[in-house]
Amino acid sequence: MLVAANLAAAPAVNIEQRIDALLKRMTIEEKLGQMSQSTSLATPLSDEIKQQIRQGRWGSFLNTGNAADRMEAQRIALQESRLGIPLIFGRDVIHGYRIVVPIPLGESASWDADLISRAAREAALAATADGIQWTFAPMIDIARDPRWGRIAESLGEDPHVASVLGAAMVRGFQGESLDRADSLAACAKHYAGYGAAEGGRDYNSAWIPEILLRDVYLRPFRAARDTGVATFMTAFNTLNAVPATGNGFLLRDILRNEWKFDGMVVSDYDAIAELTAHGYTSDARDAARKALLAGVDMEMVSTAYFDWVKSLLQAQLVTMKDVDGAVRNILRLKFRLGLFDGRPAAAKPSDAQALDTAGRLATESVVLLKNSNGLLPLKKTIGKLAVIGPLADSRTDQMGTWSMDGDAREVRTPLAALREMLGSDRVLYAPALKSAIDASTAEFPRALRLAHESDAVVLFLGEAATMSGEARSRAFLNLPGAQEELVERLASAGKPMIAVIMAGRPLAFHRSAEKLDAILYAWHPGTMGGPAIAHLLFGDSAPSGKLTVTFPRSVGQVPIYYAHLSTGRPPGANDLGVPMGTRENPQDYTSRYIDLDFTPEYPFGYGLSYTTFEYSATRVSAPALTSAGSVTISAQVADTGHRDADEVVQLYVSGPVGGSVARPVRELKGFKRVHLKAGQRQMVEFSIRRADLAYYNSRMEFSAEPGNYRAWIAPDSARGTSVEFTVGN
Ligand code: NOJ
Repeated sequence: MLVAANLAAAPAVNIEQRIDALLKRMTIEEKLGQMSQSTSLATPLSDEIKQQIRQGRWGSFLNTGNAADRMEAQRIALQESRLGIPLIFGRDVIHGYRIVVPIPLGESASWDADLISRAAREAALAATADGIQWTFAPMIDIARDPRWGRIAESLGEDPHVASVLGAAMVRGFQGESLDRADSLAACAKHYAGYGAAEGGRDYNSAWIPEILLRDVYLRPFRAARDTGVATFMTAFNTLNAVPATGNGFLLRDILRNEWKFDGMVVSDYDAIAELTAHGYTSDARDAARKALLAGVDMEMVSTAYFDWVKSLLQAQLVTMKDVDGAVRNILRLKFRLGLFDGRPAAAKPSDAQALDTAGRLATESVVLLKNSNGLLPLKKTIGKLAVIGPLADSRTDQMGTWSMDGDAREVRTPLAALREMLGSDRVLYAPALKSAIDASTAEFPRALRLAHESDAVVLFLGEAATMSGEARSRAFLNLPGAQEELVERLASAGKPMIAVIMAGRPLAFHRSAEKLDAILYAWHPGTMGGPAIAHLLFGDSAPSGKLTVTFPRSVGQVPIYYAHLSTGRPPGANDLGVPMGTRENPQDYTSRYIDLDFTPEYPFGYGLSYTTFEYSATRVSAPALTSAGSVTISAQVADTGHRDADEVVQLYVSGPVGGSVARPVRELKGFKRVHLKAGQRQMVEFSIRRADLAYYNSRMEFSAEPGNYRAWIAPDSARGTSVEFTVGN
């Protein structure tokens, strides 16, 4: 066990006192070293880096080195540096480690907080066994723009979903207590507003009025803080013209003063240096000053703190108190993680449990978008199945963005799983396109021939893993390459046609959808995606995922999200669009398009099953909600089909009417995944307290204003019947 040489382990002693003692002994170089995070550990450790660690040049390393390097570097820090201050090793452990679970947007479509938490726990077990103590997850940026590539890493458009599932991830990563050998410190990122990038273009400016910021964008961060998240990461973007990495309103006023966060804040990669590119600071020295004063404790990669804070101190542009505040937050994290006290690497877990979780999460994340005439599930007695498309057998694409530790050898593809299930001779395979972006139709004739020879066609379409994630914004949301033509061509075979779409974002594929009998949206489903999809196709399991993000009909509708305000001229349900070229009519002046239906292709919360569910008898337990009390909203949910299945039941609320601000047409307030047997009915209940209805009013006070509210228990954001209740003064 590694123990700090110059600081005897004494966990019972108050951490703040231990920090005080250290701060008194630290030189300014050692302090600035703690505030610096580097990517350059390199394998094997160079003499230069070893010397730097002895000198306390770095407080942390990210995404670098292997387990042995990390262990040796930590040994040097603890035993050969002057004060024995440990390093902290961070890494992007985003959706699994060696075994990869679906991309976070896919995870969220399971609406299964327990399972998501378990997946995070398993990633933590595997990562901590490799000497990693800190992950840069969860990403809880609200994402309402599918052009933005990082929507893949998000938990979707809704603050309630992102709050509940983000908190579940924090609990999973961090485990029972931070000082356990298998606890991975979590990081709430990117604080804040990153998902509102203008035009969906990564790193772009975000303009978010304070009421929307607080009501929507900050809510998941507040929930992460309340769950005890160890760290926050600043965002790359400007928020209302002030870069998030130099934003005292976000970092000091809200995070520290309002929310009393006492964990550590790290910048994003080079983001302090980039303050100058934003035009917010004149040079690196100015950037160091503004970031430090705003409240960024640790600088990721760029070296403005190390290079310039000494000169800023001399010029009295920052104080030692500012520096000590940042160092204190960093040391506190290291104490909490037990790093000073010789925290060992965790034991290597077996893969079995992680594979099981990855399979279950992949299954629950798949959303059935269409199933004409109950084509799915297919029968295993089927003669021949044509498996076609560039994503049927692509291990790396299946893992999705952020899977640098993902072990491609472990990945089970749909092609392999279907061959195993049906026998190779019954599976006719043609990739048809070399990759997701291949525009050549040269291989189409062979694919068409196989389609003719088969009894049904399953097409594996979508995006390559490299088409979503950081800096992977798209201006078009179509199926890329020649995929849409492929659908068209294969339709001519006249066989039942199913598409499984693997993608990192909602795509708009209306014309293809019309030609398909069934569509399963599988996101990038991770290591166990293949078996999960094969079992779903053949009914060993039933689809239960639901969308956590609205699917537009066309990119022109973006941004489109369910929790919007009403306009003064809302179109009626059948009032979809004014045909172009028609003469104007007074009643045409409603909020819609002249060339496209204004409604989404698939609404938030949407997802079908192999059975049918009926919702009835929605009730509210009392007509009025008093300040101390609660009301219960209930409904009967019945499985009216022929098989057992899970249903994600959703509670929406709107109101009040007549308050100080207009309120969204609906907001999600709760959800439950229930399991029903064929023919079974169940009463599903949600309790609402006044605090659950609170929002920011026109005076920026957080409360539920009195008035009439409405509640729905519904299968998605566009359906359900509502009940009313009032909230008094
Ligand atoms: C930049 C990304 O924005 C952030 O999410 C990530 O954690 C860091 N790079 C470290 O890789």
